[in-house]
Amino acid sequence: MKALVIKSLSGPAALSVQQTPEPTAKAGQTIVRVAAGGLNFADVMTTLGGYPGTPPPPLVAGREFCGIEEHTGRRVMGYTQWGAFAEKVAAYSSMLWPVPDHWSDEQAAAFPVNFFTAYLGYWQAGMTPHAVWGEPPSPSPSGAEGAVRGSEAPRRVLIHAVAGGVGTAAVQIGKILGVETYGTSSSDEKLARVKELGLHHGINYKRQDYEEAIKNLTHGEGVDAVFEMLGGEHTAKSLRCLRDFGRVIQYGTATGKQPQLDVRALYAKSAMLQGLWLTYLSQKREIMEPAWQQLSEWISQRKLSPVIGQVFRLDRAVEAYKLLQEGKNYGKVVIKIS
Ligand SMILES: NC(=O)c1ccc[n+]([C@@H]2O[C@H](COP(=O)([O-])OP(=O)(O)OC[C@H]3O[C@@H](n4cnc5c(N)ncnc54)[C@H](OP(=O)(O)O)[C@@H]3O)[C@@H](O)[C@H]2O)c1
Repeated sequence: MKALVIKSLSGPAALSVQQTPEPTAKAGQTIVRVAAGGLNFADVMTTLGGYPGTPPPPLVAGREFCGIEEHTGRRVMGYTQWGAFAEKVAAYSSMLWPVPDHWSDEQAAAFPVNFFTAYLGYWQAGMTPHAVWGEPPSPSPSGAEGAVRGSEAPRRVLIHAVAGGVGTAAVQIGKILGVETYGTSSSDEKLARVKELGLHHGINYKRQDYEEAIKNLTHGEGVDAVFEMLGGEHTAKSLRCLRDFGRVIQYGTATGKQPQLDVRALYAKSAMLQGLWLTYLSQKREIMEPAWQQLSEWISQRKLSPVIGQVFRLDRAVEAYKLLQEGKNYGKVVIKIS
């Protein structure tokens, strides 16, 4: 079969479309004929040797996909760690979800990583209506936080890379949850497009310091949560954007730099820094099943729709990776497989 192979961990240029043996299903797995794959920043990091747990090359790239399950003929969208950018993938049945009838293959391929990550971000921020697992780790509006600022005020979230894959998913979910959203991007054009999705406040960080912008927009109060995926100085800076009892959900390091943090900065606001990693959380059925129940309810109400920026053929996958690496994408970049 045809597959996109990572030949060495030296960046997107080391990707090549090659003939490889078809996968065989292990216990709990099923074979899916892949129609389209969703490209993630994690795929770019993988080619650079920067993604934890990457097996030694050569290996088939790709962590999410849409296709036809061979033994049932049903349309599925799925999540895996490697192997999705190929004509066939062996995937765990627990990591497959039915494709909504009204979605294209490209939309379905763009769903799993972005929407589960964004949803779990809100869950970890204590903003989802139902606890996914145990109690949401949140100060509820009736708790200390509510007492401080009034329970009726909408909660505020700052979403970095708001025009990207996870970012556009987070705006859609935030809109449903009644959250006031603030988002950063390098481009006014991208921000204008995300505003059409429901973003309340766009901040172009090339022209404006986002910490300063948050201070002004929130009358010095700050936001309840920051979805932080940049690392380096942005962890400390995002923490400074919080109001009392706020939390920074750290889920990436797109700058390639270790998150910087002086833990003492947490004392001042009773703030929290929390990690989120879908690779880890996806192993927990008690978290993923209720999350899917909620997401699928919103999908059936037509409230969620993956945003597709660009679609590339498999033989042009290197261009797709470079687009994401350079931060020039809008929404999701999809690779058409068959
Ligand atoms: N922990 C998890 O489970 C998990 C799951 C999914 C994603 N992630 C992380 O979430 C982040 C977003 O992932 P994604 O796949 O949805 O990508 P994406 O947001 O679609 O693309 C990355 C965007 O980040 C912005 N950006 C800011 N600084 C950048 C830099 N130094 N290099 C490249 N881009 C930069 C760019 O937008 P602007 O130019 O508009 O700023 C770019 O479009 C990544 O850090 C990824 O690793 C983590």
